[in-house]
Amino acid sequence: MDNSLIIALDYANKSEVERFLTPFEERKLFVKVGMELFYQEGPAIVHLLKEKGHQLFLDLKLHDIPNTVKSAMKGLARLECDLVNVHAAGGKEMMHAALEGLEAGTAAGRKRLRCIAVTQLTSTSQEQMNKEQLIPGALDESVLHYASLAKDAGLDGVVCSAWEAAAIQKKVGQSFLTVCPGIRMGSDHVDDQKRIATPDFARDAGVSAIVVGRSITRSTDPVKSYEQWMRAWKGEQQ
Ligand code: C5P
Repeated sequence: MDNSLIIALDYANKSEVERFLTPFEERKLFVKVGMELFYQEGPAIVHLLKEKGHQLFLDLKLHDIPNTVKSAMKGLARLECDLVNVHAAGGKEMMHAALEGLEAGTAAGRKRLRCIAVTQLTSTSQEQMNKEQLIPGALDESVLHYASLAKDAGLDGVVCSAWEAAAIQKKVGQSFLTVCPGIRMGSDHVDDQKRIATPDFARDAGVSAIVVGRSITRSTDPVKSYEQWMRAWKGEQQ
């Protein structure tokens, strides 16, 4: 998990995923399946990607009453992915219930899936948080607060922007995962993201993993783009 570059497979169906993966041939990747793909293809897409030997973050961002999240996580525990998540805004009891569900669904002798919490989406701005969510104060304080709640609930880490990662690790410990989307190189489209950072910034901030979607998936040469991103993420000369 540490220092991974996770590719967000934000595609509508399995054929688009297969088209994207074909030029990567035998390469083993760390990929992310979100709600767009999972709602169309279901658990079969997880089986397919795991059979190909990829590591997988199932990014379904569960957010519901504790009992529902617990039952859903019990089912997800049986899928052979590597990482799942919930929204921290669901509260400590809900996050704890997510872990109980994962533990209940984990086969004897196996380790439970790692579970992280989304703090504030990287598409959320300070103004939006204050005016729409009616959360007063600084956005990074809200992210830190959610990270502490997630830690108290027993979760393994958070999804946050690279801007908040160092403060989170300082507050709750270095082993707590910080998985950061909203990563862009200088010339990339910002799209709908608000709290963006470069791979250099993310590396210097000590984030555990970066999530990169459209900059790779919409590139005319995804393999070349992935290789450039890996070099940038590792801090190798371009
Ligand atoms: O295309 P882009 O690099 O912006 O993709 C970012 C990915 O990370 C998307 O799949 C998005 O759903 C996900 N994500 C995010 N911000 C969060 C949590 C997940 O952008 N806080």
